[in-house]
Amino acid sequence: MPQHRSHWNSRWTFMLATAGSAIGLGNIWKLPYMIGVNGGSAFVLVFVACIFFVGIPLMMTEILLGRRTQKNPLDGMQALASEAQASSAWKYLGGMGMVTGLLILGFYSVIGGWVLAYIFEAGGGNFSQITAAQSTTNFKALLASPLKLTFWHTIFMVMTMAVVAKGVNSGLEKANNILIPSLFAILLVLLGYSMSVGDMHAAAQFMFKPDFSKITPVAVLSALGHAFFSLSLGMGAVMVYGSYLQRNVSIARTTIYIALADTMLGLLVGLAIYSLVFANHLAPNAGPGLIFQTLPIAFGHMPSGNFIGTLFFLLVAFAAWTSSISLVEPAIAWITENTKIKRYSAAWGLGLIVWLLGVAVVLSFNEWKEIKIIFGLNIFETLDKLTSTILLPLGGLLMAIFAGYVMKKNHVQEELDLNNQHFKLWQFTNNYIAPIAIAAVFLFLFGLVK
Ligand code: PFF
Repeated sequence: MPQHRSHWNSRWTFMLATAGSAIGLGNIWKLPYMIGVNGGSAFVLVFVACIFFVGIPLMMTEILLGRRTQKNPLDGMQALASEAQASSAWKYLGGMGMVTGLLILGFYSVIGGWVLAYIFEAGGGNFSQITAAQSTTNFKALLASPLKLTFWHTIFMVMTMAVVAKGVNSGLEKANNILIPSLFAILLVLLGYSMSVGDMHAAAQFMFKPDFSKITPVAVLSALGHAFFSLSLGMGAVMVYGSYLQRNVSIARTTIYIALADTMLGLLVGLAIYSLVFANHLAPNAGPGLIFQTLPIAFGHMPSGNFIGTLFFLLVAFAAWTSSISLVEPAIAWITENTKIKRYSAAWGLGLIVWLLGVAVVLSFNEWKEIKIIFGLNIFETLDKLTSTILLPLGGLLMAIFAGYVMKKNHVQEELDLNNQHFKLWQFTNNYIAPIAIAAVFLFLFGLVK
């Protein structure tokens, strides 16, 4: 195995970078509205179960694949397949992940742009004493303007590609150390405020009171897909980060910390938001605009709200930034390790392609709203559903099968370095629980079982 690649400076840095990839818009923007759209507690319950029984074992799997090969996902899968004397077609799994990342970035960058716009809304004092109705009108005005959306989407893409162009050691590592802990801190402030003025009781009931009757197939499918999205699994991002990881670090412990932090953060944001939603008689199923419509109300009425609101959206933008970088890293690693193209040109070239995709997403919120791609979904919805509910779980399923049934057991054991009991537990979840759960959801999705 080649040893000349750059490595993370320490386990802590790897952990922060992977947590940086995991923690992002998925926790702060997407999880809260998905909880609302999918019936509250039922979704939360299935989501948490998916994190524990599918997400955690598969995150370990993805890191171990990456660390064993020390390569980008496509070449890495090929090398692993040849080590296991299996078909070289496994490399397409790596290729699929690279494309998935770019498709996700197409809409991720647009939403990242909304966050950037809101930093300035908050900073300019536009939330002061705002009512629920005004806040909704403001947000709708932003969505209705292709020019504004494209402007902010462009800034977000440039921010992402500027870091990617610089490379893994210089660009990625530094920011995470301060940003993630700060994000947690400000969330606690927000939560404290929501607790004091919002309807925390209703929020807790909505999110945690078990109501099994609400567990619908669609909720299960979305929860599974979101577990992958939230932990950045199934497309090689974690694999690439794993490939930069040193050999003496425990994969299991690192994974558990990251998964817990990621899940906790999402649920805390959810609580803060829903207590405001219920106190202000807003609709919990508002969809993708939820945080942009509810949070300004909180910031507009709390002491030092302009300052706290600005800081909040600033930190969310940073969280989104550290995630978006990891969405392109697999493709960049492949290009720079296989062609003569330099990292710098690869980053800006890919950036341009994804930027164009993002412009189509922007238009799907206004001019092209009525243009449906499949199943009555517009461009944004198609990209979101295609990646979260199909491509990421499919990638995860294939990785689980590869590590569980194709790789030599002693190679897997060597990477995971677990005691016998823990190894068996990983094996059981990776080889049986995760593949069966994902396959069952797919069979259902394609109408093969009812
Ligand atoms: N996990 C990120 C979030 O929750 O915002 C999104 C993401 C990043 C998904 C990287 C997939 C990925 F590879």
